[in-house]
Amino acid sequence: MGDMWSPAEYLSYADERERPFWDLVARVHAPHARHVVDLGCGPGTATARLLGHWPQATVLGIDSSPAMLQQAGARAVPGRLRFELADMALWRPVPGSLDVVLSNAALHWVPGHAELLGQWLAGLRPGGVLAFQVPGNFSAPSHVLLRELVASPRWRSSLSGAGDAPGAYSPAEYHRWLTGLGAVAEVWETTYYHALTGPDPVAHWLQGSALRPYLSLLQPDDAAELLDSYAAAVREAYPPGPDGTTLFPFRRVFVVANVGRAG
Ligand SMILES: C[S@@+](CC[C@H](N)C(=O)[O-])C[C@H]1O[C@@H](n2cnc3c(N)ncnc32)[C@H](O)[C@@H]1O
Repeated sequence: MGDMWSPAEYLSYADERERPFWDLVARVHAPHARHVVDLGCGPGTATARLLGHWPQATVLGIDSSPAMLQQAGARAVPGRLRFELADMALWRPVPGSLDVVLSNAALHWVPGHAELLGQWLAGLRPGGVLAFQVPGNFSAPSHVLLRELVASPRWRSSLSGAGDAPGAYSPAEYHRWLTGLGAVAEVWETTYYHALTGPDPVAHWLQGSALRPYLSLLQPDDAAELLDSYAAAVREAYPPGPDGTTLFPFRRVFVVANVGRAG
């Protein structure tokens, strides 16, 4: 499959999507971090702001989407911030070389990502931190309705090449695995109630994320039809309130794993 990502669609809810990034970073205790990696950095907007958060650090953003990386590359700062096109499933840090490995809203796109956690922990120095956030809303109406729609007779055959739907593990599984790997893990979840405006905002939100693998397989007319059908389905599940605001509950799972530090 080609590049399915659209930075413009993704950034249409930039503030809402960036909030969990900072809620995650707030729990990372690494005041003197020098080497930071952001896996699945996307358009690099949040990655670039890490320079202010860790003034002594050099930051590397990694992403497998050329379109996202093109946006991110414009934010590069010689000697401080660079970006690399790479698949995080294949990325292997030099053991003991990093202070912080971050990943926000990206790991769920990597099937079987639990198997990567050990190698990423091994990339950390003593006192280093692996921190990631993944959506925990795969059983919410937004995602159930999408799965039903793409499995319907109208779409099943044309969308069969979309690959694995994104998915994440439970908070308890992440905790168990990371503890088993010798880290001190902190895991929590938050449900954000995004107050969205405008017509069909939930469909518009997913147009920048979970719908990408499907929309990118279709010709423009078919893509528009799929989006219309999806918008009609979620309109009932997420009706606007009297003031026109649509509340979109979005559960997210946060994991912070400390290496070589007492809990
Ligand atoms: C939802 S965006 C999140 C972007 C950014 N981390 C943020 O918080 O705004 C997910 C990103 O993960 C990237 N991604 C998905 N699978 C990947 C992989 N296997 N290797 C590297 N990046 C990947 C996508 O290209 C996309 O830019």
